[in-house]
Amino acid sequence: NNDQLILAIETSCDETAASIIRNGNEIVSNVVASQIDSHKRFGGVVPEIASRHHVEQVTIVLQETLEQANMTMDDIDAVAVTEGPGLVGALLIGVNAAKALAFAHNKPLIGVHHIAGHIYANRLEKEMTFPLLSLVVSGGHTELVLMKEHGKFEVIGETRDDAAGEAYDKVARVLNLPYPGGPHIDRLAHEGTPSYNLPRAWLEEGSYDFSFSGLKSAVINTVHNATQKGEEIVPENLAASFQASVVDVLVTKTIRATKEYGVKQVLLAGGVAANKGLRAALVSAFSEIPDVELVIPPLSLCTDNAAMIGAAASVLFDHDKYADMALNAYPGLDL
Ligand code: KG4
Ligand code: ZN
Repeated sequence: NNDQLILAIETSCDETAASIIRNGNEIVSNVVASQIDSHKRFGGVVPEIASRHHVEQVTIVLQETLEQANMTMDDIDAVAVTEGPGLVGALLIGVNAAKALAFAHNKPLIGVHHIAGHIYANRLEKEMTFPLLSLVVSGGHTELVLMKEHGKFEVIGETRDDAAGEAYDKVARVLNLPYPGGPHIDRLAHEGTPSYNLPRAWLEEGSYDFSFSGLKSAVINTVHNATQKGEEIVPENLAASFQASVVDVLVTKTIRATKEYGVKQVLLAGGVAANKGLRAALVSAFSEIPDVELVIPPLSLCTDNAAMIGAAASVLFDHDKYADMALNAYPGLDL
């Protein structure tokens, strides 16, 4: 059997995840143990709690992943793991689990960049055609990434302050919504109309960078001013206005880069790729550019998972790009 089978592990933040990927594009099994309930009451991810949960869960999740696939380690060709960026203590649990498995079963070890993983989640949906552009929008990253071949990433624009997901989560906090706030803002936005006048940060002419902190502050000021005057805000309308501003900037810059770089495909990636407003706006905008293929991962592959890490690892495996037992966790790793 010539199939390539990669066992992948992801523990960079608050999901303990493992997956088996066949030939870089097919999910054999996929397990995600979320810790969100443990972090909710703190209004965000508490790194120490995340590490402890990963320690408790990682062996169980790995076992379940092999069981779901009806496989043993003998069937696996390589062990892949997220090496960064992320929370150092959380990353270390995955890295050490992967090293232990690779060493014990004499399998090659592969280190994967978390954002490369988010981008490669799209490969589980559609084969990649180059050059392509990926709009990466997650809790920690907002980037436009140009790819001319597998495994090579050129960041043409990135956020200068808050990531898109971070802005969603902070705005949600001001509206007293639970963590993570992105999905709640998204839901509220669909019940309201964008009646509040909020800024859009376009930055200098031609820039593909982003900035969301001014928008976030404008939302916070709107709430505070209303409170001081004893007025009520309409949360649905404020959420709709915030979402309209974020989506407008993301879509406009993505379309401009698509045209400037003449890409064949555009891939949406990261947790905020689950946003209904963003998905709909991209589908609508790209319906007018029929020679460019828009790929959007299914909801379950937008937020953190290990299937995407296995898909990205497949390309490294093809090029014999292995890690050794000195592999470490790199919390600030560049793409
Ligand atoms: O990629 P991800 O799971 O973790 C990181 O690598 O950061 O992204 C998590 C982020 C959170 O900020 C969360 O609020 C946001 O993705 N998110 C959303 C939606 N679903 C998740 N933001 C907006 N709308 C959504 N539907
Ligand atoms: Zn992520």
